Amino acid sequence: MKQRMDDTGRKIRVAVVGASGYTGVELLRLLISHPAVEITALTSESYADLPIDEVFPSLFGILKLACNKFDAREVAKRADVIFLAVPHKTAMTAAVELLPSGRKVIDLSADFRFRDPAVYRQWYGVDHAAPEFLKEAVYALPELYRQQLTTARLAAVPGCYPTAVLLGLLPLVKREVIDPDSLVIDAISGASGAGRKPDLPLHFAELHGNCRAYKVACHRHAPEIEQELSRCLGREVLVTFTPHLVGTVRGILATMTATLVTSQHVEDLRALYQDWYQNEPFVRILPEGRLPETKQVRGSNFCDIGITVDARTRRVVVVTAIDNLVKGASGQAIQAMNVMTGLDERTGLQLPPLFP
Ligand SMILES: NC(=O)c1ccc[n+]([C@@H]2O[C@H](COP(=O)([O-])OP(=O)(O)OC[C@H]3O[C@@H](n4cnc5c(N)ncnc54)[C@H](OP(=O)(O)O)[C@@H]3O)[C@@H](O)[C@H]2O)c1
Repeated sequence: MKQRMDDTGRKIRVAVVGASGYTGVELLRLLISHPAVEITALTSESYADLPIDEVFPSLFGILKLACNKFDAREVAKRADVIFLAVPHKTAMTAAVELLPSGRKVIDLSADFRFRDPAVYRQWYGVDHAAPEFLKEAVYALPELYRQQLTTARLAAVPGCYPTAVLLGLLPLVKREVIDPDSLVIDAISGASGAGRKPDLPLHFAELHGNCRAYKVACHRHAPEIEQELSRCLGREVLVTFTPHLVGTVRGILATMTATLVTSQHVEDLRALYQDWYQNEPFVRILPEGRLPETKQVRGSNFCDIGITVDARTRRVVVVTAIDNLVKGASGQAIQAMNVMTGLDERTGLQLPPLFP
């Protein structure tokens, strides 16, 4: 396995901007045991000058680095690869300041996921601060854009829901075995998907024991899913996407249903998926009789996929499960970094799921 960025044996120096958030600390958890990197800079506005193990006592005795307020020149000086684990709008401003330094930037926010700045404005309510970078940014779903990532300097890590949905749909859409206009997508997420900032609907007493739909027909991940499905098919695809929140911390379970355009046996469809993903280290096609569960992927970079055909309605039902903080964010970001720096894509990510 290749583990070095260059022949000198030097480790890749990485910075995490937004180290005090959920995706930030998940990046740290994974990067700490990544054999080819050294964590050299952390930023936080609220916890500036505090050691990270005081922000997250779970890191006590493991990582002692202090957080600093974001300063692009300082971060670029100290790191070769910079992860942006901050909210949208903040991320694009930071990227614009960092990119001239020639560093590789991996953005976990939505700021560089859209090719069309008008779509960004429509869904995020502001003009894009750096539309000139949108064409250059690579949508960092390695299962779809691996080749483009090898030469990218700006990676846009997909949203958590789009990751679960797109991995579940790619073989069906690319092979044109479904009617895309019949697609219906339901997905359920745990509370960490909303980040660490306090928010009343996420308080324990509001969330625990509860399950509710939210942002019905207006969630910002719908246009992202539509952009990528439309690119695959070469024509506009619109989807009905309904997210739900449940009282758990990690995990996304997505269920996609669509009408089959030809008669298909479930065995043939499973064979299609097995063939499609045969060389993908992080996609697991479950055998007949098993369906994905969030608990079976928790803490890992896996996306589990289960396929069923409802013969009565001639609809296919695909269920996927990911950990939103790993394959849905920080794990995928590290997978992208591995591709962008010429490392074995699995480096630092071969963690078995945590169970129970
Ligand atoms: N949570 C998920 O499952 C998930 C999945 C995929 C993608 N994402 C995306 O990843 C990014 C981070 O999400 P998260 O869940 O980690 O959020 P989070 O827990 O709320 O953390 C956000 C981080 O950004 C920092 N920050 C907030 N406002 C800032 C500002 N104005 N300037 C600089 N830093 C600021 C915060 O800490 P300080 O106040 O200390 O600076 C914190 O470190 C977001 O863009 C999110 O959409 C999240």
